[in-house]
Amino acid sequence: AAVTVVDHPLVQHKLTLLRDRERSTQGFRNLLNEIGMLLAYEVTRDLPLEPVTIETPIQTMEGRQIQGKKLVLAPILRAGVGFLDGMLSLLPSARVAHVGLYRDPETLEAVEYYFKAPSDLADRTVLVLDPMLATANSAVAALQRLKERGAHDLRFVCLLAAPEGIARLRAAHPDVPIWTAAIDSHLNDHGYIVPGLGDAGDRMYG
Ligand code: PRP
Repeated sequence: AAVTVVDHPLVQHKLTLLRDRERSTQGFRNLLNEIGMLLAYEVTRDLPLEPVTIETPIQTMEGRQIQGKKLVLAPILRAGVGFLDGMLSLLPSARVAHVGLYRDPETLEAVEYYFKAPSDLADRTVLVLDPMLATANSAVAALQRLKERGAHDLRFVCLLAAPEGIARLRAAHPDVPIWTAAIDSHLNDHGYIVPGLGDAGDRMYG
């Protein structure tokens, strides 16, 4: 599946502000929501439309609406929640699945601590959200879990990706297309993206 780097000037400008170590918690949160909104616009660009008949004040016409059921947004806790409000402002009737995973600091394995999703995942497009794609352990586990629950039309949306994470995610879930604002240089020995932005969850929530 495809990897799309969203190199829109607004996204790149906001991403640069966000990476700055001096950015406040509040500033970081605001920027992440703003970028989430812009990424939501890009990731929904090819959703299929269907005709719908409406009446304008002047006459009847055939308009177009997005086909099928409402989308599901699936943020990976905690950092993925940083995208949620921004995306919901463009997709106000989306459903939300919460996927709680933390990365064991020693092994870097993803450990699940919470999972709650709408029951009809099989009928919906699911956007999995996590600002950081590092080793991809979290993304691979989240997608696996959502697939076990019936999801089969999935898209992964992140802010920063390491080349290693992209390769791993594409190998594990070749059917899932990826959107990211940037692909950074590499992972360091602690599994952090370089140059990256540090720990997104900590910068957002402390
Ligand atoms: C961080 C980050 C991603 C994950 C990425 O989460 O927010 O979810 O690690 O790393 P991976 O691609 O190697 O799995 P963390 O476990 O620190 O939890 P947090 O979001 O609650 O801070």
